[in-house]
Amino acid sequence: MTIFPSSSQEIPAVGEVPRHIAIIMDGNGRWAKKRFMPRVAGHKRGVETVREIIKACIERGVGYLTLFAFSSENWRRPQEEVTFLMQLFLRALEEEVSKLHENKIRFRVIGDLSRFDPQIVGLIRKGESLTAKNTALTLTIAANYGGRWDILQAVERMLANHPGQQSGFSEEDLAAHLALNFGPEPDLFIRTGGEQRISNFMLWQLAYTELYFTDTLWPEFDTAALDVAIGSYRRRERRFGRTSEQLQTPVSPSRPEVECLSPAKQENA
Ligand code: IPE
Ligand code: IPE
Ligand code: MG
Repeated sequence: MTIFPSSSQEIPAVGEVPRHIAIIMDGNGRWAKKRFMPRVAGHKRGVETVREIIKACIERGVGYLTLFAFSSENWRRPQEEVTFLMQLFLRALEEEVSKLHENKIRFRVIGDLSRFDPQIVGLIRKGESLTAKNTALTLTIAANYGGRWDILQAVERMLANHPGQQSGFSEEDLAAHLALNFGPEPDLFIRTGGEQRISNFMLWQLAYTELYFTDTLWPEFDTAALDVAIGSYRRRERRFGRTSEQLQTPVSPSRPEVECLSPAKQENA
């Protein structure tokens, strides 16, 4: 049983501010190339953007921020770039986790950690337990993460937890075993860097997420750019399969979750 129902099953509340924002931070390499710098300089600069966006999310009341930092396919990159990214991750873990804790941020990592250096895994686990009770924001870093890997490991863990059962599983049963089973599905997905694809990010959870793509490269994505993305989200009408007219019907006491479904409609009225 999961606390957060699947959006394809029950209709979640929709507010002015997305409760969960998930971001594919793309365009670091091109940002560096434009400046005749090595690709890795873009990754370094991208960490500064991460700091700014975390701060902005807290100020705006976003509850969950999930950042795609390294995909299960990124091992295919040149060895020296992979090594640099691992060192950057290690340094960030060493230097930033205490600051996250000071700012009451809960830190989580999702992904297949089996390929990571034990030193990195140790720091991740330490950071997660240190910050476990924080409530200002849940910051989740997706590292060696792939949406297909996630669904597969969820199926395996679900079967292991239900010995002998072969059928009759619900979507909630599977969702409870996904790597990010401690938060709601993303309301807003942002991809910087101009590509309009999901690149194996949270395949299961993005089923009803509002998608936002921008050409802005990640190192240049700032608070103002985040506000443009949130503004776009607020103009959307999230119908979850129903008709626009149904969203206008008065709230029935038996379906309180419908209450704030359409900020966009009010805005455009
Ligand atoms: C995203 O930026 C960061 C990671 C994938 C680690 P890229 O490195 O993909 O930048 P581009 O897409 O080559 O510009
Ligand atoms: C997606 O970016 C992964 C991360 C941002 C971590 P990529 O740059 O790896 O995606 P593709 O290869 O262009 O789809
Ligand atoms: Mg890229």
